[in-house]
Amino acid sequence: MLIDPLQKEFERTQALIDQGPIWPDAAPREVRDHLAARYDFSRPIPLEDVAADVEEMLRRWQVQITHPRYFGLFNPSTTFASVVADALVATYNPQLATWRTAPAPNEIERHTLDWLAGRFGLPSNAIATFTNGGAEANLSAVVAALTDAFPDYGDDGLRGLSAAPVIYLSAEAHHSFSKIAHLTGLGRKSIRAVSTSSDLRMDLHALAREIRRDRQNGFAPLMVVGTAGTTAAGAIDPLPELAQLCRDEGMWLHVDAAWGGAAILAPSLRHYLAGIEFADSITCDAHKWFSVSMACGMFFCRHPETVARTFRAAAAYMPGSAGDTTFDPYTHSVQWSRRFAGLKLFMSLAERGEPGMAAMIEHQARMGNVLRKSLTAAGWRVVNKTPFPLVCFTRDGLDVPAFLAELKKEQIVWMSEVHLNGFSAVRACITSFKTTEADIHDVVRAITRIVPRGESPAAR
Ligand SMILES: Cc1ncc(COP(=O)(O)O)c(C=O)c1O
Repeated sequence: MLIDPLQKEFERTQALIDQGPIWPDAAPREVRDHLAARYDFSRPIPLEDVAADVEEMLRRWQVQITHPRYFGLFNPSTTFASVVADALVATYNPQLATWRTAPAPNEIERHTLDWLAGRFGLPSNAIATFTNGGAEANLSAVVAALTDAFPDYGDDGLRGLSAAPVIYLSAEAHHSFSKIAHLTGLGRKSIRAVSTSSDLRMDLHALAREIRRDRQNGFAPLMVVGTAGTTAAGAIDPLPELAQLCRDEGMWLHVDAAWGGAAILAPSLRHYLAGIEFADSITCDAHKWFSVSMACGMFFCRHPETVARTFRAAAAYMPGSAGDTTFDPYTHSVQWSRRFAGLKLFMSLAERGEPGMAAMIEHQARMGNVLRKSLTAAGWRVVNKTPFPLVCFTRDGLDVPAFLAELKKEQIVWMSEVHLNGFSAVRACITSFKTTEADIHDVVRAITRIVPRGESPAAR
C-alpha cells in the first residue's frame, strides 16, 4: 500500500476541515432530498463521482469532530496510522472469528491487548478482546459477572436464580448500563444509581448502605461499576476503596475507563487510575483518548475461564481451534464475524511508540488545564473537578441553550450542555490532539465576548 499519496490526501482533507465550520446546519429534508434526487440505484455512477459527492455531504452535514475546536463528547481527531490501518483492513478483509482463519491479525490484536493489559497491571493470563465500543465491553462485563457468580445462569437463565442480582454504579456512570440491564433480562430496576459526593465521585458510605439494604431485602449484590472518567464531568470513582469493598462483599469490580483508561500511558496521570489493577474487568476505548478511528473498544478480564464459559459456542461449520496457546474470538466474546479493529491501535502505537502516544495524551491534559485557567481568568466558574481535560463551567444567569446557539451561529467552538448536581452548565472536553493553546485563548476570548448576548450579566 502506498502511504505517501494517502497521507497527502489525509493532510489536505484535515486542513480543509480545520478551516471550515464545526457545526452543520442540516435539516433532515435537505439531506433526504439530496439522496433521493441522486441515488435511486437504477444506474451505475462512477465511483469517483460518488466519492466526491459523499465527501461534500460529510463536510456539509456533520459535526466536524476532528476539528481542533470540537470540544466534544470524547470523539477524537484520528491518527493517520488509523487511516492506513482501515484501508488495509478493507483491502484484505480478514475474518477474525477464528484463529486459524487469521493467524497474523489475531496475534497482532493479542500482542497489542496483552501489552495494554500489562500497563493496567492485570495478570499475564488476563484475557482481552476488541469490541465495537464501550457499550459492548460493558455488556461483556455484566454477562461475565453473572456467569461467574451463578454457574447455572448460562443454561437456566435468570429464572433459575433464587435472588435477583443487583448492579451498583454512581449516578454519574454511563447510561449503557441501563440498556444492558434491559438486554440481559436483569431489568432496569436492577441498577442502583448510588449518590455521589460533591466532587461527583461515588459515595462509599451510600454504596455500603445500598448493598446492606439489598442483602436484607433478599437481593443478590452482583457487581460494582467504578467509572474512571465519567462522561459528563470526568470524575474518577475511588477505585482502591471499591476494590476493597468488592473483595469484602464477594462482588465483581468492573472499571469503566472507556475514555479515562488512556491515562494509564501518561506518566503525569496514571496514578489517578490506581486501583484499576484490582478490577475483575475493564472497559477502555481506543476510539476515544487514544485517537484511533471508530470503532475500537476493548474488554479486559482477569478471569479467562469465566470468559470462556460466558461466550462458549460450538459450531461444526467453524474451523476447529488451533491449540492451547490460542483462542477463537467468536467463543470468547459477543461478536461472531469479527473485523480487524485492533490494527489501528497496533499501528498507531507502533508508529509513535509508547512515548509518542503518551505525549499526545499528556498534551490534551495540558490543554485542559490551559482551558480551566483561561476560563477562570475570564470570569467563568469551573464547576467540576478532574485531572482529565474535561471542563464544565458557567457563570451566574447563563442561559446555556441560548449560549450554545450563539456558538453555533458564530462557528466559534463545539461544546455541549451538561447537568451536574441538578444545575445546567457548559461542557468542554479537549478531544483533539490538534488543539493548541492559541485555539483555547481564541475560544475563551470569543465566548466571553458573546456572553451578554447569551443573556448573562457578567458576574464576577
Ligand atoms: C464512561 C463511558 N462508558 C461507556 C461509553 C460507551 O462507549 P461507546 O460509545 O464506545 O459504546 C462511554 C461513551 O462515551 C463512556 O463515556
